[in-house]
Amino acid sequence: MLYEKFGLVNTTKMFAQAMAHRYAVGAFNFYNMETLVAISSAARDMRSPIILAVSESALEYMGDDMLMAMITGLKLSPHEQIALHLDHGHSFESCAHALDIGFSSVMIDASTLSFDENLALSARVAKYAHAHGATVEAELGIIGGHEDENTHATNQIYTNQNDAVEFIARTGIDSLAIAIGTTHGAYKRHSDFEQLRFDILREISYRLPGFPLVLHGASNIPRILVDTINENGGDINTARGIPTEQLRQAILMGICKINVDSDSRLAFTAGVRLEMSENPNEFNPRKYLGLGQSAVYENTIAEITNIMDSANRLR
Ligand code: G3H
Ligand code: 13P
Ligand code: ZN
Repeated sequence: MLYEKFGLVNTTKMFAQAMAHRYAVGAFNFYNMETLVAISSAARDMRSPIILAVSESALEYMGDDMLMAMITGLKLSPHEQIALHLDHGHSFESCAHALDIGFSSVMIDASTLSFDENLALSARVAKYAHAHGATVEAELGIIGGHEDENTHATNQIYTNQNDAVEFIARTGIDSLAIAIGTTHGAYKRHSDFEQLRFDILREISYRLPGFPLVLHGASNIPRILVDTINENGGDINTARGIPTEQLRQAILMGICKINVDSDSRLAFTAGVRLEMSENPNEFNPRKYLGLGQSAVYENTIAEITNIMDSANRLR
């Protein structure tokens, strides 16, 4: 398998272990050297499995060769249990391309199509991925918010348990992203009292025991990062995420992969803004980008520890 050349693994073993021991594997989006190094170093230092997630637009931003050269530069070993995952692939071609250049896992997001079209496309991607030894995630239901540069879901449709059972049986996918009230982006909630739809999660988990379920749009939006940004020239006052206790509850009820992008974006921005306002004479990008990187590293460690509970899980 091509991804083995990079020391990457697919998600099969990491999900099986996470399900067995009731923790989650974090899928953290990255888009440049600083965020890649921050996230992978945090996983290594915490001895945690991790998924390095790349959106279609992030892949376009980095370029295939630059991305895979950076992955080569990490000198990964399969014992570290690190997967390289395409996040929200929107077409067969996009998923096949990622697999062809060395990704070990892909998500086909055909959730805005009809059930039958989603099923057919997800099954086609699963077949191609499995022939490459890679794993596949698909999505059923619609997760609200700004998903990525290609999708802006304004409505939200919760995942139906009967659809989920049929979809998994007929597509052969390895994990399923479900809609239970999370939304992409930094503005998810009006108050911390709003609850995820644990009733729906309970039903789906009951119908699909041991099957890996995925939570997108699950950033925690730490208040300290929001405040640091606002106190240093930013304006994101109403940003609010999914409280830690609700994420922990979702893991105990069967979620084994949690996607995080917005928290890393906030951490990076907070680090850069703080450095720039504390040292207005500084104009060496290594200084402020380095502080952005450190902030993402610290935040990833905190989330591995406090949300995923995936530290010291390498076996
Ligand atoms: O859920 C997807 C991510 O937040 C990716 O967003 O396309 O702006 O990289 P992006
Ligand atoms: P957040 O916007 O909550 O970080 O969600 C990220 C995500 O789901 C990436 O696929
Ligand atoms: Zn997502």
